[in-house]
Amino acid sequence: MNRGTRSKKFREMGFSDRLEFVKLNAQLNDDEAESLRSLTSNDFENSNRMIENAIGFFKIPLGIATNFVINNKKYLIPMAIEEPSVIAAASYAAKLANNSGGFKAAMTKSVMRGQVQLTCVPNIKVAISSIENHRQNLIRIANSVSKKIAAFDIKTRIVNDKTHILRKKMIIIELFVDVKDAMGANSINSMCERIAPEIERITSGTTILKILSNYCVERLATSEAIFFKDDLGGENIVERMLYAYALAYSDPYRAVTHNKGIMNGIDAVALATGQDFRAIESAAHAFACRSGIYRSLTTFSRSDAGDLKVKIELPLAVGTIGGIASVHPMAKLCLKILGANSAKELGMVIATVGLAQNLAAVRALSSEGIQKGHMKLHAKNLATSVGANAKDIDVIAKRMYDTNQVSMKNAEKILNDLRRNKKIH
Ligand code: MEV
Repeated sequence: MNRGTRSKKFREMGFSDRLEFVKLNAQLNDDEAESLRSLTSNDFENSNRMIENAIGFFKIPLGIATNFVINNKKYLIPMAIEEPSVIAAASYAAKLANNSGGFKAAMTKSVMRGQVQLTCVPNIKVAISSIENHRQNLIRIANSVSKKIAAFDIKTRIVNDKTHILRKKMIIIELFVDVKDAMGANSINSMCERIAPEIERITSGTTILKILSNYCVERLATSEAIFFKDDLGGENIVERMLYAYALAYSDPYRAVTHNKGIMNGIDAVALATGQDFRAIESAAHAFACRSGIYRSLTTFSRSDAGDLKVKIELPLAVGTIGGIASVHPMAKLCLKILGANSAKELGMVIATVGLAQNLAAVRALSSEGIQKGHMKLHAKNLATSVGANAKDIDVIAKRMYDTNQVSMKNAEKILNDLRRNKKIH
């Protein structure tokens, strides 16, 4: 192609050209294109600094969960989530936990591991002992990456190719790093890349992957609380909740949904505070499966007094410095609202919200069910989506809810009736 006349690539275009390109190729009409422009234009510059091919930010609702007391400290917890009932449910569970002194949370050290995959060594035993002999030097090279965080150990493992495609053994060199208040991904990835040439030199092998492991089992958050049986609705509800837990522990089909409820809370705080929620998700689900069977991330038990004890434990790679948490204007504000002073504290809060979310969901499911509360908010969403104005939304939602006919079609019908009536009067 003639360089002088080639059309611009999307990433080379400015905001207006990018929108024009999308409008043309996605066949948006003028109104749709205008909505896209007005929804995104304010924030274009910020978004364009953060990702490639940006056209703006995608907004989702931000709310504040209340009533949380964790290790005797009160928190206002920002949650970014599009699903109704989640914030109300977490705040409700936090209120109940306060009756028994709030949540007790803890977190282990901020240790993550990086992996360098080494292949094609002439002799595996010799390669491993060579790495062990050069341990201190490899750690020194890794630590030339950052003044703030430090690698402190190196271990090796042999991993067999279970695909049977290559039928080769691989040596995995694992670098253990104390990432302190950072999530750590960038530094660890750089460390792995930095030590790889030296690993190749001392083993005569070939390195392939050089990347952190998101399965951060050295970075575990726990949180627990007691929920009084009378606050939950009595002994029978506690019994029913234990049945619900027994199913989540014993059956992966239920466990996935049980854990989805937990992630409703965890992801919402993670998103609001600028965390890599995909990393959190993948580690959480692997951890849920650590026994070989996918199980509940929370454990429920009955105290001697017949109250419900709930505990959550999961790996949580979160940071209060570096990454998006220091760049995204809203994430920075949310971290300030939350007032977590370290990655460990943030991890404890996030785990606690997961627990609270789960307690509230399981309590509702074990008693009146979740649809009642959920449908009220869903009805409002439907009324909004058919184009009702702020005044009409509540009227439409109430009418649908009261008649037990919550649907898009009914929302449209009620809106048309309202508009017709207004014209008549
Ligand atoms: C819905 O987003 C989450 C729940 O399904 C969780 C659960 O079933 O425990 C209510």
